This record gives sequence, structure tokens and C-alpha cells, in this order.
Amino acid sequence: MSVRIAPSLLSADFAHLAREVAEVQAAGADLLHLDIMDGCFVPNLTFGPPVVHCLAACCEIPLDAHLMVVNPDPLVGELAAAGVRRIAIHVEVVHHLHRSLAGIRQHGVAAGVAINPATPVRALEDALPFADFLLVMSVNPGFGGQTFIPESVAKVHRLRELCAGRDLDITVDGGVAPDNAARLADAGATTLVAGSAIFGAPNRGRAIEELRRSAAGDHLR
Ligand code: DX5
Ligand code: ZN
Repeated sequence: MSVRIAPSLLSADFAHLAREVAEVQAAGADLLHLDIMDGCFVPNLTFGPPVVHCLAACCEIPLDAHLMVVNPDPLVGELAAAGVRRIAIHVEVVHHLHRSLAGIRQHGVAAGVAINPATPVRALEDALPFADFLLVMSVNPGFGGQTFIPESVAKVHRLRELCAGRDLDITVDGGVAPDNAARLADAGATTLVAGSAIFGAPNRGRAIEELRRSAAGDHLR
């Protein structure tokens, strides 16, 4: 299975979002990753449904929302109406994970569970049947450009084993770069989110291709 590449808009130039989206889309990105932060679950603020609505109008690839907020449920309807195709919520903050995931699915959107670096894999175990994908954080959420936490590779591997027999997408987010993409893909990651490695590169198309090649190459070895 080839690994999908999802540029994270957090590292884009926010004064020229439409242009940035057009560039990574033309460069072959598979999904557009949107980091929604509330300044409470994480010490940073980004954007919400009104901006996502505008982005949807200028983006043809699927929108992938990562909700770093303490209360995600009220955002789901608006994001679904804006055209978002996947929504991930954090296991660390949601009190009724089963209900929240079902609520996302009811809107016809793929429901994902995100997990922070220090949260044990077992916190996800009972939620797996109700999730359409997993989002493994390989940095502490809140900011782009942080250093990849290498223990995340083993975590992805454990999650892939837990989901054996199921075609579940495992997305990895944080510090993803060509030097860890192969290890992540080998461990079982099927989508790689990258912010600074793509938007910080002089040629975004080349950066996406490099990530894709790195992820695929290790599978062939
Ligand atoms: C961090 C976000 C990431 C971030 C990744 O909280 O969830 O999506 O944009 O950025 P890089 O790839 O620069 O670590
Ligand atoms: Zn993210």
C-alpha cells in the first residue's frame, strides 16, 4: 500500500492560503491537513470553521481536520458542512469517545482518534472498532517545526499489530521528514503529515516526492 502525503497547512503562509493550497495540490499532495487549535488543549490558536469553509472552496483534495481542542463535539457539524472528509479528536480530552466518534460518522465524515506521545497505546484499544483512522502524534501537539520523537515508530508498530486484519489508516503527525518516513512506513503508517518539511522547502513538489520515495523505498528493501 502506498503511503499518502498530507501537507499540514500550519506551516504555510497564512497571508496567502489559497496560493499555498494550490501549490501543494498541484505538487501531488493526497490530503490537506488542517490543525485546529483552541489555545487551551494546546498553547496555540489557529483557525476554525469559517476559514475551513473558504479553504474548501479552493481545494480539491480531501480536507483532514485535526482538532486540538478540549471540546471538539460542537465543531463537527460545521466542519462537516464545510466539506471536511476526516476529523480526528484527541483521546486525552474526550470524555465520551464512543459518542463523539459516532457523532462524526453520523455526519458522513471519517472519524479518527489522535494520541499524544506520552499516552499509552492501550488507551485506544477499546475505541478501535469505532474509529476509521488513528492519528499518532510524533511531537507534542501545538506547533510546527518540532523534533520528531523516535519512540513514535515503535508506537505505530504496536498500533498496527493491534489493528491486524483491519485496513485501518494510521496517520503520523509531527517532525515527519525524509529521514524518518521510511521507518514510519515500515512500522505500518499509511499517511504521513508534514508541515515544515513541505512548506519550509524551497520546492514543495520535490519535498512531497522525496517523502513519498523515502516511504516507498523502505518497503522495497
Ligand atoms: C502539530 C500539528 C502538526 C504540525 C506538523 O501540533 O498537529 O500537524 O503542523 O508540523 P511539522 O511537520 O513541522 O512537525
Ligand atoms: Zn496535526
